[in-house]
Amino acid sequence: MSRNRTSLMGIARECLKGQRVLLAALVALIAASVAAEVFPPFIVGRVVDHNIKGGTFDRLWFWATVYLAAVFGSRLVTFAQTYLTAVIGQKALYRLRSMMADHLVRLPALYYDRTPAGDITSRLTSDVEQVNALFTTGVIAVATDLFKITGVLSAMFAIDTSLALLAMASLPFVYGVTEYFRRKIRQSQRVSRVHMGAINTYLQDSWRGFKLLKQFNAEDRFLDRFEAPQRLYLDSTNRVALFNAYFPGVQKSIEAVTTALVVYFAATRLASDQALSLGAIVAFSQLITRLFSPVQEISQEFQAFQQAMAGVERVTGLLSEEADEEPPGVSPATPVTAIAPPASGSEAADAPAATGLARSGVLRFDHVDFGYAGGVEVLHDIDLAVGKGERIVIVGRTGAGKTSMISLAAGLYRPWHGIVRLLGEDPAALSPSERRRVIGVVPQTVHMLEGTVQENITLGDPTISGEQVMDVCNKVGLDAALSGLPQGLETRLGRGGHQLSHGQNQLLCLARAMVCSPPMLLLDEPTSGIDSETERAIAETLVTSKDVTLVIVSHRPTSFAWIDRIVVVGDGRIIQQGTREELENAPGWYASMQEMRRLGWTA
Ligand SMILES: Nc1ncnc2c1ncn2[C@@H]1O[C@H](COP(=O)(O)OP(=O)(O)OP(=O)(O)O)[C@@H](O)[C@H]1O
Ligand SMILES: [Mg+2]
Repeated sequence: MSRNRTSLMGIARECLKGQRVLLAALVALIAASVAAEVFPPFIVGRVVDHNIKGGTFDRLWFWATVYLAAVFGSRLVTFAQTYLTAVIGQKALYRLRSMMADHLVRLPALYYDRTPAGDITSRLTSDVEQVNALFTTGVIAVATDLFKITGVLSAMFAIDTSLALLAMASLPFVYGVTEYFRRKIRQSQRVSRVHMGAINTYLQDSWRGFKLLKQFNAEDRFLDRFEAPQRLYLDSTNRVALFNAYFPGVQKSIEAVTTALVVYFAATRLASDQALSLGAIVAFSQLITRLFSPVQEISQEFQAFQQAMAGVERVTGLLSEEADEEPPGVSPATPVTAIAPPASGSEAADAPAATGLARSGVLRFDHVDFGYAGGVEVLHDIDLAVGKGERIVIVGRTGAGKTSMISLAAGLYRPWHGIVRLLGEDPAALSPSERRRVIGVVPQTVHMLEGTVQENITLGDPTISGEQVMDVCNKVGLDAALSGLPQGLETRLGRGGHQLSHGQNQLLCLARAMVCSPPMLLLDEPTSGIDSETERAIAETLVTSKDVTLVIVSHRPTSFAWIDRIVVVGDGRIIQQGTREELENAPGWYASMQEMRRLGWTA
């Protein structure tokens, strides 16, 4: 990726793209607000010297009107500036969310393995909101205030150098105090965000297992365990609140001392110094308030700024996670035609034969070692070739590595060593749209999205017609379940919607995998929750899908009478393979398992 999205500046540039005109208007408004800040004290000074001291009404109405106009003008400029800042900030935020969503969908499965869902949620919600604070109350407001401070100081020097120097002398104190609080607030804020992430993660995990908690009467334990993250969050936010509470107080004290000193020195000089008029002192004292108000605002803005920086760190953290090479919808270097089979017809057979590996199987594991994020190897030296149209069943004990093999074939992970090839290509390099047309996957864990039955099957792919959806539903035997739904295919599923049974959900997953008629189906225990009759119907459907290569993980290989080959996996290795007859007649895991089944030990 050429664009740098992992630094604050890189993100800012990316998010503010196309907003040049608005930004220029904002700069003009900032200049106007500085002028509006400095102008009114000079009018007051002039009125004091000319009208009050001189005892004349000469042009008093005029200057009163100009003063009022300047004050109203300043409010108007503040309004326009606030509004424009919000518009720019929200536009930037929109781009940032899109950028993050675009990045999230391209992150490898390993990222989701090691990152709790709650953490991702808070990065996309509260942390992104913090970045908005960086744009609005952060950078723009701080820049405006710095301009105001410079403008007011220049005006002070124009009135009297020694008084201006005195006022300026207070600024290092303000800076020192600000710097101290800046560090403290940032530290506490970072800790509190981590605890917030922990609460989110905890709630999401518990939410998923809520029925389980109820079934086991474990609600009290849930509440007890909720106590610890809550308390940690409370303690950390209390620390943030403490710093925020006495920060402005310290600032106010510095302001009071400075004002008193300036007024005292000015008063002592008034009698002897002809250059210093009463009007100038009045103007100067008004300017002091105008010098300190942006400084105090900066101190408050620092709070938002620091919070925003903590949020920005987490956002840049997500954006710097290495994504899969191919963004969705972008074709890989290899032409799609070399991997995606034609919709129908016999030329499908020739398409994959492009490379040597493809010739040795449509799906090929070439001495593959693999493990997850924990660093423990779970698959060892897997060597397997599945020919075109071949139907294999992978069997093995729980935790043997069957699902891991399916995940590798589906391109969800990359092997540590060795090569995985699907139709001659690296399955992990397929773009999502191509993957769907090449492989149909039924994962072991059924997952339904919020949406209608139809949306759950098409996953929002507009190229899939209603007819295709109906066809596939009939094929997998979902039609019976559909007829029982209030709005058929348009029935909403998920929270607040209709719930299908586990077996019906599995049928829907099968329909989702088969709707694009892919030439390769990877089915991880697709019938574990389905009755024998429906299972037999599915087995019949699968066998009639001509030219489709089938890899099925099943604890009941007997369900698929037509199977060409059985592969037995044990402890991450292929320990046996062959036809059903070969395995039944050879001593080993498969024959023992069949024997146990015959004796009624297993289902
Ligand atoms: N996401 C993951 N992160 C870390 N380790 C994992 C992950 N998924 C599986 N494993 C580990 O990999 C090994 C193989 O798991 P796998 O899911 O492939 O087994 P399986 O043969 O499909 O088992 P089952 O029949 O229970 O589905 C197990 O030891 C498991 O603990
Ligand atoms: Mg499994």
